[in-house]
Amino acid sequence: MTKRIKINKLLYLDKTVDKVVVKGWVKTRRSAKGFSFIEVNDGSCLKNIQVIADNSLDNYDDICRLTTGSAVAVSGSLAESPGKGQKWEISAKNIEIISIAPEDYLLQKKRHSDEFLRTIAHLRPRTNKYGAAFRIRSELSYAIHKFFRDRGFRYIHTPILTGSDCEGAGELFQVTTLDMENMPSINGKTDYSADFFGKEAGLTVSGQLSAEMFALALGDVYTFGPTFRAENSNTSRHAAEFWMVEPEMAFCDLDDDMDVAEEMLKYLTGIVQKNCAEDIELFAKFVDKKLKDTIQNTLSSDFERISYKEAINILEKSKKKFEYEIKYGKDLQTEHERYLTEEYFKKPVTVYNYPKDIKPFYMRLNDDNMTVAAMDILVPRIGEIIGGSQREERFDVLEARMREMDMPLQDYWWYLDSRKYGSVPHSGFGLGFERLLMFLTGISNIRDVIPFPRTPKNIEF
Ligand code: 4AD
Ligand code: MG
Repeated sequence: MTKRIKINKLLYLDKTVDKVVVKGWVKTRRSAKGFSFIEVNDGSCLKNIQVIADNSLDNYDDICRLTTGSAVAVSGSLAESPGKGQKWEISAKNIEIISIAPEDYLLQKKRHSDEFLRTIAHLRPRTNKYGAAFRIRSELSYAIHKFFRDRGFRYIHTPILTGSDCEGAGELFQVTTLDMENMPSINGKTDYSADFFGKEAGLTVSGQLSAEMFALALGDVYTFGPTFRAENSNTSRHAAEFWMVEPEMAFCDLDDDMDVAEEMLKYLTGIVQKNCAEDIELFAKFVDKKLKDTIQNTLSSDFERISYKEAINILEKSKKKFEYEIKYGKDLQTEHERYLTEEYFKKPVTVYNYPKDIKPFYMRLNDDNMTVAAMDILVPRIGEIIGGSQREERFDVLEARMREMDMPLQDYWWYLDSRKYGSVPHSGFGLGFERLLMFLTGISNIRDVIPFPRTPKNIEF
């Protein structure tokens, strides 16, 4: 096949080129006297390249039948464009028609709603908006690896199939090879010894517990992969399958943990501002008018840090009507989180030291015996974007806490073991990757930042 140049490279060339080959899809085509103007896009960037097809081309009649969505290979010379807003155009010497899209192709020029585009999730990455969103997703994935690598973190792969419910919220998707129509049972209960793993298994809700084992061996590590939660909450912020970035650091307390989390969030925001400017421009224009301010504000402000107790005080004093009750000991709801970050502080806020009863077993108990060394980072429009903690490294305290929570200790023997041999203070956090994308693009529904969203009653594509 002839080598092609991608449009994102071509548009930034600084001089004309005699022969270029561009391969892509037709966005629009219109005829003028003796010419056709064809806008071609290859997905490498938002911008199209304009192709001028002269009626002297052999297959000019076929070229005039090119429809939106058709695929072409264009070779020609790169010339300065007299048109406004574009530096280059291609004067075609040859246009090979790779395929013609029939007229019923759904992505014609008109704009479609996000709801409709979800029903054609196999085609939506071809639209300007979704193309931009998924280019940003790619850029941010790479930036996450770069952030950690530059700071000496090791990348580890934690298992997706698991026997433990890390967060203890009972949201595990069960995995089984048992015959659902004919389950083996003993005394009326399913006999999992006959199952593939010989016991109950599920899809992981978090890689944290495995990551901790590696932090206690390699020092600073992170995992970045898919996680699964069978929460039946049909909100715009929850997906059943989402990606999480989870660093875990040995010899690290809650303050260090918050420092790294805030630094990472700023770093990733800066990357988007710098490397994705053209795509961000689209979101700022059509999706969220305040997006650029949000980005700038995140970069230039010091995040606020307050304890859970202070957060409750502020919320109680606010005159705002909330749907959910505010009470010490209850978890903060998204509406509370958003009030704190959007209206009260007007910048990202880190809330720490939550009551132990609303947090998982692994968080380190504070000296007050009431709160744990937990932290959540809240950002405008989203609420919680990061959740983390210092981990309970003291064997006795951890064991007592697990008993108090009625956990099956025998299943966590290996986790407890790590607190017997060379236990050290350590901390980590989880960044919800889709929530980060929502934050940095202004997209308001999690279903629109993940290629093929999985939510209750929806596993199409
Ligand atoms: O606060 P979470 O539940 O924390 C953990 O899973 C810890 N084990 C992380 C750690 O310390 N290593 O989840 C972390 C983040 C949340 O702050 C949120 O951004 C995101 O994951 N998240 C979800 N994103 C999309 N859909 C869901 N259902 C999510 N649940 C959590
Ligand atoms: Mg959380």
